[in-house]
Amino acid sequence: MWFYRSPTVVYGDDALSFLESIDMKAVLIVTDRNISKSGILEKVKAHIFSPSVETIDYIKEEPSVDEINDAVEKIGNFKPDTIIGLGGGSSMDAAKVILFRLSRPDLDFFDLTPLSYLGIKKNHKFIAIPTTAGTGSECSWAAVVTDRNDGRKAEMASPEIMPDFAILDPSMVSGMPAEVRRNTATDALTHAIEAYVSTWKNPYSDSLAREAVMLITSGCAKLHDDPENMEYNSMVQIGASMAGSAFSNSQIGLAHALGHAFGAVFHKPHGLSVGIFLPRVIEFNDVSCHDRYEEINSFFSTDLRKENLEESVKSFLKFMGLPLYVEDAGIDVDEYMTRKKVVADLCFESTGIIGNPRDVSRSDIDKILSDMIHK
Ligand SMILES: [Fe+2]
Repeated sequence: MWFYRSPTVVYGDDALSFLESIDMKAVLIVTDRNISKSGILEKVKAHIFSPSVETIDYIKEEPSVDEINDAVEKIGNFKPDTIIGLGGGSSMDAAKVILFRLSRPDLDFFDLTPLSYLGIKKNHKFIAIPTTAGTGSECSWAAVVTDRNDGRKAEMASPEIMPDFAILDPSMVSGMPAEVRRNTATDALTHAIEAYVSTWKNPYSDSLAREAVMLITSGCAKLHDDPENMEYNSMVQIGASMAGSAFSNSQIGLAHALGHAFGAVFHKPHGLSVGIFLPRVIEFNDVSCHDRYEEINSFFSTDLRKENLEESVKSFLKFMGLPLYVEDAGIDVDEYMTRKKVVADLCFESTGIIGNPRDVSRSDIDKILSDMIHK
């Protein structure tokens, strides 16, 4: 017995207006300062008719345990019946953990578990509104939380923190800065490819991953000359959400295990961090899943497709302006050589190791990390 889990996805032009049909009495919006300053928060609020709306608008990149606990304390006696995560992966992930903390104050922070029913949404509705097209957090039941003391990232998970509704309005992503677009789209592509070869792959994740690769690569190719085009933005937005649903119902792999560790040690964006490893991970895994890689490569946009998946991914990264080597990511080689041992240690804490199609040893990781600099 297995499950396919997904929120109700509301997508396309004017998707935000769906908020008007939801019965909400007290709403908590969890977001970040950029969103509240940019006018996006007000645009969302215009569709909320609840008499009582509170906002936590200071979620930072890669939210920490302390920041989330602080937010819960500030919410105090306000008792929302609806929680909205508005923003990129950080705000949506923070909203998931805040939902858990508000609904189960009797439990400790890391008591969130997928293994038993906790009644988290018994008294709450949970809505995710992404303002980037990449993390897929709106369709996943995982949240990444950082421990600021040692940079470790904890992956928290429960089907009960899956949003009830994911609202994909292209106007939310059409004004994204170019750097955010390239990082988030690369993250989404990595989700789709890793889900397609994961040890937990299944017919549902397969179909979503294939369509996601097509939508993300074609959409990005078209957006290059017309970045605010709503149709093309919608393609990447839907593709990223499908990729999120694919990995959420399958698993991530080694590029995410390495990327989480690398991003934590060198403070690089998540999309850049997973993307930089993806070609080497494909090269390493190829012996275990060559046919699957050939299949998914056929879904690449013809503008970017090459003779094999590794080359197609390199072509995508170059097209998006992302690095293939650590020096090109602005990292000093000596510092990299000194600290790559920490990356290797941390990477074995990720679930990406479990889902990867080929077993990974410490010497395999050392070899991949050594190949990340220009020879
Ligand atoms: Fe990711």
